[in-house]
Amino acid sequence: MLSLVLLAIAGAAAARSILTSGSLDYSIPTRQAGSLPSSFKWSSSGALVGPKSDSRNIKGIKDPSIVYYNNRYHVSASTAVSSGYNMVYFNFTDFNNANSAPFYYLDQSAIGTGYRAAPQVFYFEPQKLWYPVYQNGNAAFSTNKDISNPAGWTAPKTFYSGTPKTIQDNLSGGYWVDMWVICDASNCHLFSSDDNGRLYRSQTPVSSFPSGMNEPVIAMQDSNKNNLFEASNVYAVGNGKYLLIVECIGSTGRYFRSWTASSLAGPWTALAATESNPFAGAANVAFSGTAWTKSISHGEIVRTQVDQTLTISPCNVRYLYQGLDPSASGDYNSLPWKLGLLTQTNSAC
Ligand SMILES: *[C@@H]1O[C@H](CO)[C@@H](O)[C@H](O)[C@H]1NC(C)=O
Ligand SMILES: *[C@@H]1O[C@H](CO)[C@@H](O)[C@H](O)[C@H]1NC(C)=O
Repeated sequence: MLSLVLLAIAGAAAARSILTSGSLDYSIPTRQAGSLPSSFKWSSSGALVGPKSDSRNIKGIKDPSIVYYNNRYHVSASTAVSSGYNMVYFNFTDFNNANSAPFYYLDQSAIGTGYRAAPQVFYFEPQKLWYPVYQNGNAAFSTNKDISNPAGWTAPKTFYSGTPKTIQDNLSGGYWVDMWVICDASNCHLFSSDDNGRLYRSQTPVSSFPSGMNEPVIAMQDSNKNNLFEASNVYAVGNGKYLLIVECIGSTGRYFRSWTASSLAGPWTALAATESNPFAGAANVAFSGTAWTKSISHGEIVRTQVDQTLTISPCNVRYLYQGLDPSASGDYNSLPWKLGLLTQTNSAC
């Protein structure tokens, strides 16, 4: 209780004071996990990775998940064609070479063909297994002993027997999408969105994962669905703090709002949470030359700590995102989404 009061005082004063083993440190930290700025600035690369001219003839590459592991970036992403979605894996050592990394289309693995999209990949340390979590109409997962062997992804299993009642009851006109798992010391939490203004969360004990996800609760909602649309990411940022970002639909394109909390169960407090002061969006991303995209859309912070706690450093954040030529139009599934990289330019540490 005392700690909570002290944290509240520190937070209210925006002093970025940090509690370390029971004592207060009033200095402005320069390299302190947990210290996130209240506004962000980024520079963006150009489009780094796009569809390849091969027999697959995919139209867009989307929804990337990225970890840096064994001196390589490992990316899993959605592939889009007009008939729907599947997924791809590739790896590279340097972003400058990312576009020449060979694609391994994951429908060649036991993942199989059909609707699978929006992967999130992490290492579940208790079982020494990689978990790709993705959507297939339900919230699905596979496992893999070796992230660099995409043929090793197992056949889809699901966290729920069907669409949970709470989601079904709130879904009207929306889609249940973008599953995301993060674990604290006790529980693994599964977040998802409904394209209808709601973010859901359910949980199961770490010792039971991946079984036992309970009935979701509404973690956050907005009466305007554009203000809480989809593609949530949740990370631990140190000192028991969590960062949540959710993709929203703005006046010029997609952007992300952000919140923090001291528990994965919330409550979530707004951080940079408007279109004019977003986590990332047209308002705070600089391009060299003409912007290749006005949307900063579905992606992930580059994780170098790869386990189920999804712990990131709040310093020098990099974000791999999907962007789109502003002049592109037509069938949603055939839009030419490509991947680009944001690098934070106002890191305080
Ligand atoms: C990189 O990806 C390819 C699939 O395109 C895979 O065969 C290879 O093992 C991966 N290499 C490493 C070092 O992870
Ligand atoms: C959302 O789901 C809950 C649980 O089923 C239900 O009580 C509530 O009425 C739903 N909300 C809306 C807006 O439909």
